[in-house]
Amino acid sequence: MNVLGIETSCDETAASVVRDGRQVLSSVVFSQTHLHAPYGGVVPEIASRSHVETLPSIIDEAITKSGLAWNQIDMIAATYGPGLASSLLVGFSAAKGLAMKLDKPLCAINHIEAHIYSVFLGDDAPVPEDVCPFIALVVSGGHTCLVHVDRVGSYRLLGRTIDDAAGEAFDKGANLLGLGYPGGPVIDKVSKAGQKDYVKFPRGKHRHGKGQIAGLDLDLCFSFSGVKTALLYYLRDNPLVSGDDRMASVAASYQEAIIDALVDKCRKALNGGVHLAAAGGVSLNSRLRARLGDLAGEKGIRLLLPHPEYCGDNAAMIAGLAGAGCGICGPDSMTLDVFPNLELGVE
Ligand code: KG4
Ligand code: ZN
Repeated sequence: MNVLGIETSCDETAASVVRDGRQVLSSVVFSQTHLHAPYGGVVPEIASRSHVETLPSIIDEAITKSGLAWNQIDMIAATYGPGLASSLLVGFSAAKGLAMKLDKPLCAINHIEAHIYSVFLGDDAPVPEDVCPFIALVVSGGHTCLVHVDRVGSYRLLGRTIDDAAGEAFDKGANLLGLGYPGGPVIDKVSKAGQKDYVKFPRGKHRHGKGQIAGLDLDLCFSFSGVKTALLYYLRDNPLVSGDDRMASVAASYQEAIIDALVDKCRKALNGGVHLAAAGGVSLNSRLRARLGDLAGEKGIRLLLPHPEYCGDNAAMIAGLAGAGCGICGPDSMTLDVFPNLELGVE
């Protein structure tokens, strides 16, 4: 089963061909980061225009690199949510058109579910049967949540951020520090030379205290707006000058506050010896990977991480998940609309 996957939920235009849900024959990602960098964040109008311009050639490239002919593609899969409506529309409409033209089924995929599935991509990746059930931490620029994965296709949302996503905290923090966009990679790099306990930033505490929010245990929910505000006030009171040798330590302290919060919630969610997975752009963070590795070691469980090329937005995770038999496939998908606020594992 060869699936062509298409992903355009935010600011990456991606296409990929995956065989039998695991073997990635091609994965092409065009990142629009340079288009959004001058604005310090993703501009939806620029994102959707760029998807329209680039998607046809990205799909062609994915087919060519796969070594397959069009008539060897068995299914078209595309993200239908969550994400930016105007971006989702480009990829999902293109997928509908291709499915119609090729007379192949269309499969509509949930982007968060696909991020979780990314840990199973590649020949040396674990097989789901060996590691389910597990807890998945999905951390990206748009999402931060903890999901209990019973098996591929069966999920229960345990917690989510009540304000900013972890990647957003990195991006906004880097902006305040004058380090540019996107913030995650640069904070990760700069922090290596810094002192993690130089500034005591708050650890993702939210003012709601204990209890529940929208049916979720607050103890498993995240909050990152406080740490960002704390950095703003710290920099107001302790301005950094260009070339300041405190930069690395302030960045490292800020990064550690975000990562402490992520690791703390993972620890709380891990019960009964289930394994742990992390996915999404922030799962590239070297300090997060090390800290989650320590946590898994402490608990005697496995830590599942995607290959670096499948951490950020990509289409291999979309095609892979469809090839694994998930998503909304068949005639229902052709009349489906994009769903910008689509959730995962919510009853
Ligand atoms: O998954 P992704 O490519 O797109 C979304 O679905 O949002 O994630 C992008 C996010 C950005 O916020 C970026 O700053 C963050 O992932 N990121 C990182 C690192 N690399 C990318 N955050 C922390 N450390 C990194 N090394
Ligand atoms: Zn994503």
